[in-house]
Amino acid sequence: MMNPFAYGTVVKGENFYDREDECKRIVDTLGGGNNLVLYAPRRFGKTSLVFNAIEKLETQGYSCIYFDFMPVFSPESFVRLYTKALSTQQSNLQKFAKTFISTVKNIRPVLGLGAEGKLEFSIDFADEKVDETIVSQLMDLPEMMAGKNKRILIFFDEFQEIEKLKDIHFEELLRSKVQQQQHVNYLFSGSKTHIMQAMFNNKQRAFYHAASQMTIGYLPEKDTVDYLQRNFSKKNVNASEEIAHYIITVAANIPHYIQLLAAEIWQNVETGSNITHDMVDTSVLRSLDMKSDYYMELFEHQSKSKKQLLLALCSSGKNIFSEAYIRKYRLPSSATLQRAASGLTNDGIIDRKGNEFFISDPFFKLFLKRTAL
Ligand SMILES: Nc1ncnc2c1ncn2[C@@H]1O[C@H](COP(=O)(O)OP(=O)(O)OP(=O)(O)O)[C@@H](O)[C@H]1O
Ligand SMILES: [Mg+2]
Repeated sequence: MMNPFAYGTVVKGENFYDREDECKRIVDTLGGGNNLVLYAPRRFGKTSLVFNAIEKLETQGYSCIYFDFMPVFSPESFVRLYTKALSTQQSNLQKFAKTFISTVKNIRPVLGLGAEGKLEFSIDFADEKVDETIVSQLMDLPEMMAGKNKRILIFFDEFQEIEKLKDIHFEELLRSKVQQQQHVNYLFSGSKTHIMQAMFNNKQRAFYHAASQMTIGYLPEKDTVDYLQRNFSKKNVNASEEIAHYIITVAANIPHYIQLLAAEIWQNVETGSNITHDMVDTSVLRSLDMKSDYYMELFEHQSKSKKQLLLALCSSGKNIFSEAYIRKYRLPSSATLQRAASGLTNDGIIDRKGNEFFISDPFFKLFLKRTAL
């Protein structure tokens, strides 16, 4: 029987639950002609939410383009990948090529037959250096594609990564396009909350107050309990309410880890039985074992002050810069601690929600508790 729990991919359809208000907010904001910022810690379900909103917007007739900034590492790679994202959705590639030629003047498009005999669009940089001008022209393309009667919605995921394009002033460039374009709206989503917030809330920055903002939090526990019970019952397995809450707690209530743990339990539990605490613990240990080499290396690579902070965060993440906290966990001076915290945050190892810090991966936290404390 197929494992009903899925993780590590975008979840859709039956596998996606709740987030109705959040989805509606995205649909209404972009459909209404405005831009939106969506930020939340890693693995909370941003990308899945975005794809569910895209599905709805497409049924309403909008043309939606999803673009992930994660693999972008240079202006060339941006141009290549963004062109690909813009072209793959097009049913009429000839028309697209025409618009491309008249908008992005310095790049030669190649329209050829692909492996399956289908028409394919690609670009040829030749000796052309990809500079600000080319990038700027390419950013105009969606507006040209939209024409007068259509609206195009663009979803930029992992938006904090535009940092890598600062040599070509990408942030300022995009901001001016966003302002000019009449038929294109944007959603900017990302996980590095502090970077995203600085980008949109700092007066000195190009995107200052350029879009309305939203965040997503934990999924309501009650819905998760229902979801777990409903899916385990497909195997005639009983997850009591108490056990469901235990799973949620062990997974720190983070959607990704709830699914991961549930999937592992599903594999090990026999049809027609009850899930016990022991079973949950065994499944956690199994997952920890699989990743222990990685976790060990991750920990070893940290500086002394980062290690100290990680261990302290195993107990508590509140008021970590206070004198009491520093004393209690024998941490270095406040300045050193600040540096350690921002280093770990930038590497995605820790995160903060409100004024509380936490280790992003709850299984890494469990690993540390077992091996380093
Ligand atoms: N609404 C949901 N219903 C069910 N599962 C969900 C939901 N949202 C997230 N998940 C679970 O969390 C996992 C991570 O979701 P997703 O990739 O959308 O998060 P993300 O915030 O984009 O993560 P990242 O920061 O790594 O980009 C999914 O694979 C799924 O297991
Ligand atoms: Mg994502």
